[in-house]
Amino acid sequence: MTDLDTIVANAKAAFTQAAMPADLENAKALFLGKTGRITELMKGMGQLSVDEKKSRGAAINLSKQAIEAALNDRRLALADAELQMQLKAEALDVSLPGVPHAQGGLHPVSLTLERIEAIFGSMGFDVAQGPEIETDWFNFTALNTPEDHPARSMHDTFYVEGGTEAAPNLLRTHTSPMQIRHAVQHVKKHRALIDAGGTMPEIRVIAPGRTYRVDSDATHSPMFHQCEGLWIGENVSFKDLKFVFTDFCRAFFESDDLVLRFRPSFFPFTEPSAEIDIQFQTGPLAGKWLEVAGSGQVHPNVVRNMGLDPEKFIGFAFGMGPDRLTMLRYGVNDLRLFFDGDIRFLSQFQN
Ligand code: PHE
Repeated sequence: MTDLDTIVANAKAAFTQAAMPADLENAKALFLGKTGRITELMKGMGQLSVDEKKSRGAAINLSKQAIEAALNDRRLALADAELQMQLKAEALDVSLPGVPHAQGGLHPVSLTLERIEAIFGSMGFDVAQGPEIETDWFNFTALNTPEDHPARSMHDTFYVEGGTEAAPNLLRTHTSPMQIRHAVQHVKKHRALIDAGGTMPEIRVIAPGRTYRVDSDATHSPMFHQCEGLWIGENVSFKDLKFVFTDFCRAFFESDDLVLRFRPSFFPFTEPSAEIDIQFQTGPLAGKWLEVAGSGQVHPNVVRNMGLDPEKFIGFAFGMGPDRLTMLRYGVNDLRLFFDGDIRFLSQFQN
């Protein structure tokens, strides 16, 4: 082996040993760099004769080319190995089953509200929504509730900022303010017709939503839901209320096996007033009277606050508790479960 063959063999061995591109560049410097073996040989040719220079130069050049070729091969091999490693690390197995996403669903009370809207919708009722922060006027005064009524006290009602001392703002304690808000809009829309002595289209509306009272135990939550109902016309009577509400309850509970009782009661905004109780004839709750709504014939003062003549317009209103209806429908005995946000409880209601 000539000295050149040895250098080439050493270079190839050094390149093969280099595991990383940086190692390879270091190895290259040993042979082709400024002080590398080949460069040193080139420099050493000064003393040679012209002929010797020719043959030695050509031989060194061949060796240099061989080293460069080996270097190039190794560079390509290392780059390829790196690419393979990267591909492997980033590999996707498209045949793996996906990670399933937890499926969301409606809250049980929302399911009840949808149900209420669908049933009353089928009976020709509109659905209205209104603010949860109310004025004292809509929540109490317009509903014929006197200044000294206990419901207006600080420990029953959440008063909030805004408004004036004479007309404070509060979190609505019931959905009844929607009776006034909706009726006023309706009357405004048909004012000209009413004034001309025409027949106003009846007000037939439900208003579901959140309501607030200072109250908290197994059957009361500071935030709860109500659904108001209002039907005003020239010829609407208590028997319509009985008919509509009976029909609603039977549709809601999918049972004809229940009876209703209208128990005399008092609300400032209805006269006469009645609590509505239902009784299942079969099933786990059979025989018990269960209170589901307050109701009554809309008080003449309230009809007047709607902008209508109580001598001409009459109707009824009711306010029911969708939370209570949800508890009865699913057999849940603690209202707070609905508002704790525990997914183990809530996920049981997905159908
Ligand atoms: N707003 C009453 C309550 O919260 C319920 C009700 C509504 C009663 C409409 C009569 C008419 O208790």
